[in-house]
Amino acid sequence: MTRNILVTSALPYANGPIHIGHLVEYIQTDIWVRFQRLCGHHCHYFCADDTHGTPVMLSARAAGITPEALIEKVHAEHKSDFDRFFVTFDNYYSTHSPENRHFSELIFKRLNEAGAIVTRDVEQAFCEQCAIPLPDRYVKGTCPKCKAEDQYGDSCEQCSATYRPTDLENPFCATCGTPPVRKTSSHYFFKLANYEAPLKALIAGGFTQQSVANKLQEWFSSGLKDWDISRDGPYFGFKIPGEDNKYFYVWLDAPIGYMASAKHYCDAHGLDFDAMWPGEHSAPGDQDAYELYHFIGKDIMYFHALFWPAMLTGAGFKVAKKLFVHGFLTVNGEKMSKSRGTFIKAATYADHLDPEYLRYYYASKLTDSVDDIDLGIEDFTNKVNSDLVGKFANLASRSGPMLSNKLDGCLGTLDAEGRSLIDTLTAVRDQVVSDYENLKYAAVVRTLTALADEVNRYVELKRPWEQIKSDPEGTRFTLTAILNAMRVLTIYLKPILPVFAEKIEAFLNVAPLQLSDLETVLENHPIQKFKHLFQRVEEKQVHAMIEESKDSQAKPQPAPVEVTEAPTFKEEVTIDDFIKLDLRVARVVEAGPVEGADKLLALTLDVGGVEKHVFAGIAKAYKPEDLVGRLVVFFANLKPRKMRFGVSEGMVLAAGHGGSDIFVLSPDSGAKPGDVVS
Ligand code: 2FM
Ligand code: ZN
Repeated sequence: MTRNILVTSALPYANGPIHIGHLVEYIQTDIWVRFQRLCGHHCHYFCADDTHGTPVMLSARAAGITPEALIEKVHAEHKSDFDRFFVTFDNYYSTHSPENRHFSELIFKRLNEAGAIVTRDVEQAFCEQCAIPLPDRYVKGTCPKCKAEDQYGDSCEQCSATYRPTDLENPFCATCGTPPVRKTSSHYFFKLANYEAPLKALIAGGFTQQSVANKLQEWFSSGLKDWDISRDGPYFGFKIPGEDNKYFYVWLDAPIGYMASAKHYCDAHGLDFDAMWPGEHSAPGDQDAYELYHFIGKDIMYFHALFWPAMLTGAGFKVAKKLFVHGFLTVNGEKMSKSRGTFIKAATYADHLDPEYLRYYYASKLTDSVDDIDLGIEDFTNKVNSDLVGKFANLASRSGPMLSNKLDGCLGTLDAEGRSLIDTLTAVRDQVVSDYENLKYAAVVRTLTALADEVNRYVELKRPWEQIKSDPEGTRFTLTAILNAMRVLTIYLKPILPVFAEKIEAFLNVAPLQLSDLETVLENHPIQKFKHLFQRVEEKQVHAMIEESKDSQAKPQPAPVEVTEAPTFKEEVTIDDFIKLDLRVARVVEAGPVEGADKLLALTLDVGGVEKHVFAGIAKAYKPEDLVGRLVVFFANLKPRKMRFGVSEGMVLAAGHGGSDIFVLSPDSGAKPGDVVS
C-alpha cells in the first residue's frame, strides 16, 4: 500500500552556517525520506530557517543590516549547503513568512480560548546601552552559588547551578558590559501542565525511543512548568495580536514553521494541506491521510516532546506519529573544536571532499539510539577507501569497461550460478527495508558491505580478465551476473548514495531504480560507457580541510552584505539638542584590556590637560598598544556611567560595522587634544 508521509528536520537558526554537526540530522532524515520514495511512497520533506529571536536581531545589528537582509542572505547559504549534500527538501522555507504568522496567531488564539494561556508579571534584565531586554545568555555575572565570575544568566559552567538572570551577582550585558537594569513587564505563559494526560498517553504509545521516554518521565515527575511564550520589544519576530510591544518567543513559532513550510508547498503544488496536516478546515477522513514524523537532536527534546505536541493538541491540530531523536557528533572522540579545526562548515567540507563520503560514513555510524556518533578522521578515510572505492565502485569498474570493449557493451543472460548470486542479494530485501525504516542504517551498511564481499569473491573465483581470453561468451555470463549484482546493491544503496546511484543508472542504461526493480533482472540489455565513480580520499585533502577550518576562525569576518532596506533612525533631535554634546579631540595615553569583557578596552585620555577614564567597545578592532598616542573624538560631557568594571567618564566615538570593523579618528589629522570637534 502506498503511504503518504510528511517528514521534517529541525529548523536551523538563521544566524550561522551549517556545519558537519548539523549534517548528521539532515543526512539521517534525507536517507529515510529517499528510502521511502524508493519504496514508492509519497514522502514530503519540509524544513525552513528558524529566523526569529534576539541572536538574529543582534547579529544583524552588528553587521549593520536589517534582520530581513540577514535572514535572506543566510537562507541562500543554507540552501546551497543542503543542495551540495543532496538533501532533498520539497520546501526549504522561512519562519518569517505569512503562513507562519497565520498559524502562530491561530494556535495562540485557540490555546487562549482553551484556557491554556495566562499572563504574569516577569522581572527581567534590560540593557539601556543596547536598548534591549536581555535573554538569559546575554547577561553574565557572578554565580550566586559558587561565586565563579563571568557566568551566563541561566547556568554556571563551574558548579552547574541553574538560576534566573536576575539572581546573578554583579550582572553585566554580555554584549557591551553595562550593568543591566531590572524591568517588570507582563508576559504570556502557556500552561503546559494542562496537557499532562495526553502527553503521557502519547509517550506511552511509542512516540519516542525508550531512552527519550525515560528522560521525559523525569520531567513529568518534577512537574510540568508554565512556559513563557512572549518577549518584549525590540525583538525580531511576530507581534502578538493586540499588543504594541510584545512578540511571540522564537520557540513558539519555530515548530509552527514545519506547518508553514508544508502549507506553502501545498499551495504552490495544488495539494490539500488540510488533509496533510489536519486541524484547520479538515474533513473527518483526513486524520489518517498522512503520517507525520519529526527528526530532531537530543538537545531540543523538551520542545518537541512536550511543548509542541501540547500546543498542537490544545489547538486541535494533528500530532506527529513519531519523534526520532539522534545524538550529537563528536570528531576524533571530542566535541567539535574551532581551535583543533574540527568545527567544519558544510561548505568547507564540500570544497575539499565528496559529500557522498560523509553521507556514507554517517550512515555507517547511525543507529536508532540517541547516543552520540563519532567521526574518526582516520576511520573515515579508511572506510571510504575500503568500502566505497574498494568494494562497491570496483565491482563496476572491473566489469563495465570489459563488457563495453570486448563484448559489444551488451549484457547476456544469467546462468544458474549468476542467478544464485542475485538470489543471495535479493534475499536480504526485507531485512534492509526494516533496518532503513527503523533508522538502523549502520546495520544496512554492514549487510551491504558483506554482500559486496560476496560478489567480489565471485569475481575472484571467475577471474573474467582471464576468462575473456579463451571464453568470451562464458565471460558474458560472468559480467552479466556481476553487473546485475551491482544493480541490486545500487538499489539498496540509493538512499545513502544518490549520485553514485544516478551514475550506475546511466551506465546500466536504465530508468531511475526503485525497490520493486529487485523483482526483475537485466538481461540482453545494452549498457553505456562506464564513467569513473569514486576517487580515493587522500589524507592531505582531509588535512587541508582541517587547516582551513582552523584558519577560518582567525580570518576577518566577510564584508557584510549590502543594506537592502533603508535603516530606521532613532527619534529626531533638534540642532539645539545636538549642540549640547561637547565633542573634543583627545589623545589616548594608556590603553589596556578589561578582564571579563573581551570587547572592551580601558582607556586613559588626555583631553587638553584633563585626564579621563573610559571603557570603549573597540577591543576587536584595535590592540591596546596601537592606540596609545592616537587621537580620538571624545564625547566629553556624557554623564559618567557606573559599569561593572568601574566608572566610564564619557565615550569615545568611532564608526564602523562592529567587531574588527571599527575606526576611531584618523591619525595625524592635525588636531590637538582638547580641540572642540565641530
Ligand atoms: O535548536 C535549534 O537549532 C532550533 N533552531 C531548532 C528549531 S526546530 C523547530 F522547532 F523549529
Ligand atoms: Zn548591552
